Amino acid sequence: MTDLFLLPGDGIGPEVIAEVKRVAAALTPDLTLDEGLFGGIAYDTEGAPISDATLSAAMASKAVLMGAVGGPQWASAPRDKRPEAALLRLRSEMKVYANLRPALCFGPLADASSLKREVVEGLDLMIVRELTGGVYFGQPRGIETLANGQQRGFDTQVYTTSEIERVARVAFELARGRRNKVASAEKSNVMESGLLWREVVEALHKRDYADVELTHILADNAAMQIVRNPQQFDVMVMDNLFGDILSDISAQLTGSLGMLPSAALGDPGKPGLYEPIHGSAPDIAGQGLANPLAAILSFEMALRWSLDRAADADRLKAAVEKALEGGARTRDLGGEMGTTQMTDAVLAAL
Ligand code: IPM
Ligand code: MG
Repeated sequence: MTDLFLLPGDGIGPEVIAEVKRVAAALTPDLTLDEGLFGGIAYDTEGAPISDATLSAAMASKAVLMGAVGGPQWASAPRDKRPEAALLRLRSEMKVYANLRPALCFGPLADASSLKREVVEGLDLMIVRELTGGVYFGQPRGIETLANGQQRGFDTQVYTTSEIERVARVAFELARGRRNKVASAEKSNVMESGLLWREVVEALHKRDYADVELTHILADNAAMQIVRNPQQFDVMVMDNLFGDILSDISAQLTGSLGMLPSAALGDPGKPGLYEPIHGSAPDIAGQGLANPLAAILSFEMALRWSLDRAADADRLKAAVEKALEGGARTRDLGGEMGTTQMTDAVLAAL
């Protein structure tokens, strides 16, 4: 069984995944790696943004690490052939319903955030985003033409008890190993699915996690609180759409989107899907400027959560911190380094 299946994808994806390979060669030379085409490049080469063969190979490995997908050249591809469709399919088929998106502000980067140093310094927030349900997948959806000639676009936001419960369970379990607090965000004041979300989280808390401090927060207020005082939060749990939005906001707290990894996990023992949160960044693709740290830290999460190598993960995280303390900065962090040089700094620290 392959340990790590790489899907470099589009834009800066191949550049940052190439750096992960260098790190893996130095830190964990015994790991078995394999790789496949994914996203726009797969569509151009194979006619589908993810082929069935690539999907099966990914699902048969212990962990999948993706670079990035998408770009303006595929904006007019048919909807089901778009790079983003491949990502949603991969998440759905791998059944990775819990997406861990940490917002960790490394001390030396506190001044790179657009928020004040005292607001973000020491920040360690974990957003748990539901990843395989909600309005991203709900049926019916579509764009239809009405009798009066107008068009009507519609999506369905839908959650079942078990979908809510399993992701909330992940949040509570994580909190127990951290500062023991969970904030659950929804719009129970206007949405039926939000009301059910709140009731299910509340019931699960009462039943199995009464020792964890639970608060319910409306998602709009959560957005405001994240920029006002993010350190009031430890673990936050929310649906797919709110998690997409609030994780981008929290990413900015840390100084740069180029710093943030993520892990998407399913049931225990199943392969996890790891991805840097930044997108394909077509504006800087191919220039060797991308910050490789989000991809390197995604590898760090894969070591920890899927490959049972916590000690290697600890070493890698410490090396990233040391490189930053030593002043290593790519352009997104206000520095001058290129992609390869940043990795050199991490390798030197290792
Ligand atoms: C993310 C991205 C994706 C999403 C896109 C690329 C489909 O924004 O991972 O946050 O919306 O989930
Ligand atoms: Mg997003």
